[in-house]
Amino acid sequence: MLPIQTTAPGKIILFGEHAVVYGYPAIAAPVTQVRATARIEPGDGSGARLVLPDLGRMQSLLEAAADDALALAIHLVKEAAGLSELPDFSLTVTSSIPIASGLGSGAAVTAAAVRALALFLNRPDLATNEQVSALTYEVERIHHGTPSGIDNTVVSYEQPIFFVRQQPHNRIEPFPVGRPLYFLIGDTGVASPTKLAVGDVRRQWEAAPDRFNHLFAGCGRLTEAAREAIEQGDLARLGELMQANHALLQEMTVSSPELDRLVAAASAAGALGAKLSGGGRGGNMIALVRDAAASSVRQALIQAGAKQVLATTLPQT
Ligand code: PMV
Repeated sequence: MLPIQTTAPGKIILFGEHAVVYGYPAIAAPVTQVRATARIEPGDGSGARLVLPDLGRMQSLLEAAADDALALAIHLVKEAAGLSELPDFSLTVTSSIPIASGLGSGAAVTAAAVRALALFLNRPDLATNEQVSALTYEVERIHHGTPSGIDNTVVSYEQPIFFVRQQPHNRIEPFPVGRPLYFLIGDTGVASPTKLAVGDVRRQWEAAPDRFNHLFAGCGRLTEAAREAIEQGDLARLGELMQANHALLQEMTVSSPELDRLVAAASAAGALGAKLSGGGRGGNMIALVRDAAASSVRQALIQAGAKQVLATTLPQT
């Protein structure tokens, strides 16, 4: 049997972070330039093995910590496949997605591994975007509290997604991109666990529900308008909407001096718009730029303290 290799991209949230937790729409997109890769091949008789070259780890599945995300993912696929035992295999996972910076590295590693194992077990029905996303969500939920589900969706579908968290099924809508979109992603270098920012917003919402409901609804309206602007290829409008979303996120107190500095620097250097992306308080910001190179904006971000700048393009569809 030949080895099976699958990948999953990184992701950025374009609009609606935080508000999405409360049922308002958000838009996220894949970052295809960075990826997680899973490769699975038959084992040598020593059971299921995990190989993680990035971490210098090579171990038997039995040795993995019970709350290890990959071990959990393997367990969930085994359960979904109705197997009492797994065949021997060696699963190697690598990733070029920066970790713990809101680019979805955890979700992508899980999604790639889930898809590879499902295919290895000859269960293509468990390797569909929908199934991979659902199983990845389970792992994320155990690891990160109660995420909205947007991360696992985008890394599994690998398309820009208009997303609404709702019962009984989330609204997951891929939509067309009217003109190519070029983004720079600037990393503040400040580690900020999303869980803390989400918990803090919840406390503020509980203390001042009217004010926060109003802010979330504002984000929801901006997200709806942004979808239209993306579909129509109206870049100027899209840039304005990003600025407006950043202002609402500042009011929710999830921006930070570092994020504000990068957003201001990008705008001053000619970006069409910029905002923080993801949980905030650190992590990454995104800037909509006119072309793939965008050297003046890139330069400005570095000068304003960005530790790393990635570029990504959303192709026209
Ligand atoms: O920090 P990230 O990129 O994982 O994004 C978190 C997005 C939130 O809306 C703040 C939380 C969520 O679960 O959607």
